[in-house]
Order: sequence, then structure tokens, then C-alpha cells
Amino acid sequence: MANTLAFLVLFAVAGISATIAYDPDALQDICVADLNSAVKVNGFPCKSNVNATDFSFAGLAKPGFITSKFGSLVTTANVMQIPGLNTLGVSMARIDYKPGGLNPPHTHPRGTEMIFVLDGELDVGFITTADILITKTIKKGEIFVFPRGLIHFQKNNGDKPASVIAAFNSQLPGTQVVAVSLFASTPPLTDIVLTMAFQIDTQEVEKIKAGLKS
Ligand SMILES: *[C@@H]1O[C@H](CO)[C@@H](O)[C@H](O)[C@H]1NC(C)=O
Repeated sequence: MANTLAFLVLFAVAGISATIAYDPDALQDICVADLNSAVKVNGFPCKSNVNATDFSFAGLAKPGFITSKFGSLVTTANVMQIPGLNTLGVSMARIDYKPGGLNPPHTHPRGTEMIFVLDGELDVGFITTADILITKTIKKGEIFVFPRGLIHFQKNNGDKPASVIAAFNSQLPGTQVVAVSLFASTPPLTDIVLTMAFQIDTQEVEKIKAGLKS
């Protein structure tokens, strides 16, 4: 009996948390983020003097300047750039790719992503928790969806630059790049964790770390 009750309580709690697994609903029309506030809350406290500047951003208008070794650049348009997005549960980004450029495997812990191809052609995909790869080549005008939390990537296999606009159902979806998180964290993961996890030796771990740093 006690077991049944414990099970029901667990089930109810799991059910409730499932219904609030995305950015929470707003409790007022606007809550423009005070990004400089020392107050720590879930999201940001609201500031009082707001105008159209808080709700606009021109940063996605043009291709960004790509310097990364991966040959891609993500320009975000989330609550950090657009304080008016605080509590609204949406954001965007622009991604530019050099010919051959890769947006390396990464996850967004708090948001599902849709991309719309502005230019070029990309091989894209995500991997499910059953380790199934869902992949496709998409071109200008087409859309692809990366479900929340799943590891995904985009690769420009063309000989021309490519670009996409991304939309997220979170004001700050968060990004964790798999290789960087595992091999370039601060402080670093101990080699034994990486040698065992990847079934490689210490020299290979050091080589991967060095490659990500340079
Ligand atoms: C909005 O307010 C900021 C100061 O908080 C000011 O710098 C900016 O010019 C204002 N913009 C408009 C469109 O009124």
C-alpha cells in the first residue's frame, strides 16, 4: 500500500515536471531583462524603463565574420542581446558556414531548434537517445528540426558559403558543444575518464585536447 502511494506520488511529480519542462509562461505582458541586476532568479528580473530598443536587434542582418577552426559562426539573438525576450520563451540565431564549414555536434538543453536555410546547402542531423541518426541534406528555403536536448550538427558540403536562421522555443536555449565540453572543460576532466569513455590512450586524449585549444 505504502509502495503504491509512493509510486502514485512519484508519477504525479513526474507528470507535473513534464508539463513545465519548457520556458515557464509569462505572468505579465512584458518583463524586459535587467541584465545587470545582481538579483538571481530563474531568468532575469524586470527593469522599469523600457522602449523599442529592448525589443529589437539588427545583429542577424549580415553574415558574421568566421574565424573558428570549424569554419562556422553562430550569432545569437536571445535574451542576452534582446532583453525584451525575458519570460517570452522564444529566441533566434543566425549561423554562417564557410565552404566545408561545420557547426560541430552540440545540444541545446533548454530548447527545440528549427533552422531555415537562407543560402547554400547543408548536411544536417540529430541523434536520438536510441543512437539513431536522423539526417538529411537541406537547401535554400528548406527547414529542419532538432528536438530539444538531442545532439545535432550542420555541415556545409558545398563549395559556396551557406547560412541559416534558427528559431528556438526558449529565451536562452543554452549550447553545449560535445567535443569542447568533454575535452576542454575547466578544470579538465581527468584523462582516465576520457581514456576509458572513448577506449583510447592518454596520448590520443592529449592530442584531441591540443587540437581543440590551438
Ligand atoms: C531607449 O532607451 C535607452 C536608454 O535606456 C536610450 O539609449 C535609447 O535611445 C532609447 N531608444 C528609443 C528608441 O527611444
